[in-house]
Amino acid sequence: MSNQRQPIGIVGCGIIGASWARAFLRAGHPVVVHDPSADLAALREAVAEAWDAGRLTHADRIESLACCVYVQESIVEDAAAKRALFETLDAILPAETVVASSTSALCMSDLVPDLAGRARFLVAHPASPPHALPAVEIVPAPFTAPDSVARAEDILCAIGQTPVRLNREVRGFVLNRLQAAMLMEMIGLVRDGIVSAEGVDALMRDSFGMRWAIMGPFAGVHLNAPGGIADYFARYAPMFDGFCADGETLADRLPPDTLDALQAHATARVPLEDIAARRAWRDDALVGLRDWRAGVAS
Ligand SMILES: NC(=O)c1ccc[n+]([C@@H]2O[C@H](COP(=O)([O-])OP(=O)(O)OC[C@H]3O[C@@H](n4cnc5c(N)ncnc54)[C@H](O)[C@@H]3O)[C@@H](O)[C@H]2O)c1
Repeated sequence: MSNQRQPIGIVGCGIIGASWARAFLRAGHPVVVHDPSADLAALREAVAEAWDAGRLTHADRIESLACCVYVQESIVEDAAAKRALFETLDAILPAETVVASSTSALCMSDLVPDLAGRARFLVAHPASPPHALPAVEIVPAPFTAPDSVARAEDILCAIGQTPVRLNREVRGFVLNRLQAAMLMEMIGLVRDGIVSAEGVDALMRDSFGMRWAIMGPFAGVHLNAPGGIADYFARYAPMFDGFCADGETLADRLPPDTLDALQAHATARVPLEDIAARRAWRDDALVGLRDWRAGVAS
């Protein structure tokens, strides 16, 4: 059966839950929201059409979620509160309902290790806000059933999200690890008086921010050397060596099998002989993006 019209549950309807509701409603799902404290006025306004069609239901009783094939938990980032909620959900939901958590940094291994239905629990951590940004980190616990992961990914793909599966749980998942690494560096540069906060914002917004709006960082550096990403790291190895911790070099961080994997990933999408053409495409896209930004600048 198509996932498109199956009911979706949202527990916790603050910033993230309301945005998830919009994402699922836009794709045609009926959505049941459970949040005793939420003010749904703004959400109702944002999804007026779905509200008028009766596709958005605000359920006072959590048992009303029993009709849902997938529940996206988005309550406060509090392990004890999430544990208590998951215990309730596990007791009231049909066995096949998948429960995904929006948690920014908690692992399912710590939240539901002993629940009878733990195989249906996983993390689906969105970029914020999910109705506008497609990326979702899928983080299964070792006990999460592959079928639960596959069903979550199917449902999310069908509403236009980009689920990316992590192979194992790791502190901060990937998005927040990457964000933290960049923010820590930026904080240090501002703290040390090397650049202003305005300068960091401008440098990021008007360089990587634009490039990463149209391609990922590995795909990006692949275009910045004639021999692709392997050539890029060979050319700039001395610079990267300088950023490594004491005693480490780029070669330690980037052993041959990892480098081969990066090159294989990049060349599968853009073979070396197509790099120049892809660069021209990139430049056109960036100029288009620059013109669009100039048109919407406030
Ligand atoms: N805000 C972000 O940038 C962001 C990004 C990605 C993920 N997250 C994660 O999403 C989750 C929600 O964050 P948020 O920013 O939307 O928080 P929020 O405070 O805006 O919303 C939380 C909502 O949960 C409700 N709630 C609390 N306990 C509940 C319960 N037991 N049952 C039902 N509803 C309950 C509250 O009434 C509130 O409306 C957190 O786990 C957070 O880590 C947040």
